[in-house]
Amino acid sequence: MSGANDSYDPKQVAALSPAALATGIAAALQAFAEARDLDQLRAAQNAHVGDRSPLALANREIGALPPAAKSDAGKRVNAARTEVRQAYAARLAELEAERDAQVLAEESVDVTLPWDRQLPGARHPLTLTQELVGDVFTAMGWEVAEGPEVEAEWFNFDALNIGVDHPTRTLMDTFFVAGPDGSADSGLVLRTHTSPVQARVMLTQAPPIYIVCPGKVFRTDELDATHSPVFHQLEGLVIDKGITMAHLKGTLDHMAQAFFGPGIVTRLRPSYFPFTEPSAEPDLLCFVCRGESVGNPNRPCRTCDSEGWIEWGGCGMVNPRVLRACGIDPDVYSGFAFGMGIERTMMFRNNAADMRDIVEGDLRFTRAFGMEA
Ligand code: DAH
Repeated sequence: MSGANDSYDPKQVAALSPAALATGIAAALQAFAEARDLDQLRAAQNAHVGDRSPLALANREIGALPPAAKSDAGKRVNAARTEVRQAYAARLAELEAERDAQVLAEESVDVTLPWDRQLPGARHPLTLTQELVGDVFTAMGWEVAEGPEVEAEWFNFDALNIGVDHPTRTLMDTFFVAGPDGSADSGLVLRTHTSPVQARVMLTQAPPIYIVCPGKVFRTDELDATHSPVFHQLEGLVIDKGITMAHLKGTLDHMAQAFFGPGIVTRLRPSYFPFTEPSAEPDLLCFVCRGESVGNPNRPCRTCDSEGWIEWGGCGMVNPRVLRACGIDPDVYSGFAFGMGIERTMMFRNNAADMRDIVEGDLRFTRAFGMEA
């Protein structure tokens, strides 16, 4: 370092020599150019512009020069520092632009990608069908009733005039619930039909009674195209004064048309059920051929096998023995009841050929019903 009183020759102050400045500039420019990212550039800036850099050293040397020499040396050092600062700013701008481009590329959002891979949930078509039935009846002022799926044998059978020796008791393919000690006579079954809800309602409500009961029922059937050990039924019950079979027929016709369209009515075929007297089986006019396939080989119908009618369940006037068992005076009140399978109804209505599709929950089947929530 030179002292204030030394004889002056700028070239003797090594740090201020044009050659040293040129080397400092060149080293800085090279380091900036070689910096691959902003971190490296910051390190290069420290080394070449920072307090301990050759140029900073040169700047400090100026203070020690005689006044006459200061201006000349100051200009050269300033020029050198300006050149380096500009080179730094230029490289900084380049590297920032590179970084921004990279961030844009890496963090960009591809708006053409599917925006929602998670399908919205929807209720099962069977649930929708049950609710539709409920709507048809609540619109007429009826109520929706429910009963337990594990049911007392008395409600499932006895109250409905199905005595212990009645063949229906064994024919119904019942799941009997074992008692706590493993014995077979717990007195409970998985309900084989929704008819026990009739008895429960009659025992707890005074007439007039207008109810429908959709619900799960159980039978010891294997799962195949038309059977399932667990399926659903819809039960209807009306108890009031002066109820006749005409009311039953009108109700079934209304339900048929609400479900299958105008003009799709029912007919009643005589039948037998222990809990109704007289009993009948309602048939549904085929909603595809409307009966026109009958005796018409040119127009066969697969939906009704060219029979013109489709079996749709059971119905009848509530047996006075059932009314009496449930505390209702058959001399004052009469009523009708009906029951049908909901899966079967849905299969007709939606042209589903296989019960297993309803049970298995395959989205390829259920999505066809839409996303009605
Ligand atoms: N419970 C009967 C069954 O599961 C269906 C049935 C028939 C219900 C006649 C009724 C009825 O209410 O009146 O096969």
